[in-house]
Amino acid sequence: MTSRVKRQACAAAFAGLLVLVLAGCAPHPAATSSPDSVASVPPTPSSSATSSASASPSASASPPAQADAPSFNKKLYSIDDPTSIWVVVDKLRPLRPTNYIPKLATLAVAHTSPPQMTAESGAALVAMFAAGAAEGAGGMQDQNSYRSFVTQTNTHNRLVASLGEKAADAQSARPGYSEHQTGLAVDIGTVPNRCAIAECFGRLPQGVWLAKNSWRFGYILRYPADKTAITGYVYEPWHFRYVGVALSTEMHTTGVTTLEEFFGLPAAPAYAG
Ligand code: DAL
Ligand code: ZN
Repeated sequence: MTSRVKRQACAAAFAGLLVLVLAGCAPHPAATSSPDSVASVPPTPSSSATSSASASPSASASPPAQADAPSFNKKLYSIDDPTSIWVVVDKLRPLRPTNYIPKLATLAVAHTSPPQMTAESGAALVAMFAAGAAEGAGGMQDQNSYRSFVTQTNTHNRLVASLGEKAADAQSARPGYSEHQTGLAVDIGTVPNRCAIAECFGRLPQGVWLAKNSWRFGYILRYPADKTAITGYVYEPWHFRYVGVALSTEMHTTGVTTLEEFFGLPAAPAYAG
């Protein structure tokens, strides 16, 4: 290879690396469909946001918006594959397969039901709870995270029985249509428990802090108050969805608050059938 060709090859390799870094494409564990694989995720050693390995950025990290930065690659991960941290699940986009079971880890966090999520989203949750406590938001716990198809069926049926189908559909996904089944979503509560799964959670210090800071840990508030017509669900200030730091940072920077809008997907106010 001549030195000119070598120089060109090096420049290309460097540019490629730069694009990957700017796109925030740290690898995430490939989920599998193995149903019974449950690992333990320990708490991070320090309460600093920087203490989580790849799941959270520095607390002082500024969004990577620069005039000459390459545009965000919206096709980096699949929005269809349930193992993808970018999977979009809504009333028009059921999980495929509908009985999908993620590879789960058990989280070392306070909880009111079995604290299970994917290892990556769980590590980010542990770091987020620690940072919230360190930054004065107060104690948080996993109110409810992974729900299987069967659990979602029971949860949804109970609500339909008590509220009727229309009201139930506004706040609870039908089985096969819930983000909770991906292992990437969590309903967050406070310690001690106040305003559990209630709108007033959004006014508590924990809810206020999460709405402002969850993006730093790769989480988004999935059902904002002003986006019911797009998400199909009422305001859920307790429901957070892990999408990874690259995407949460991009959504925070651009001010786009729903996955449907970010990926140019149709609004999903109701089921197709
Ligand atoms: N509460 C959310 C929409 C769910 O049931 O997945
Ligand atoms: Zn939820």
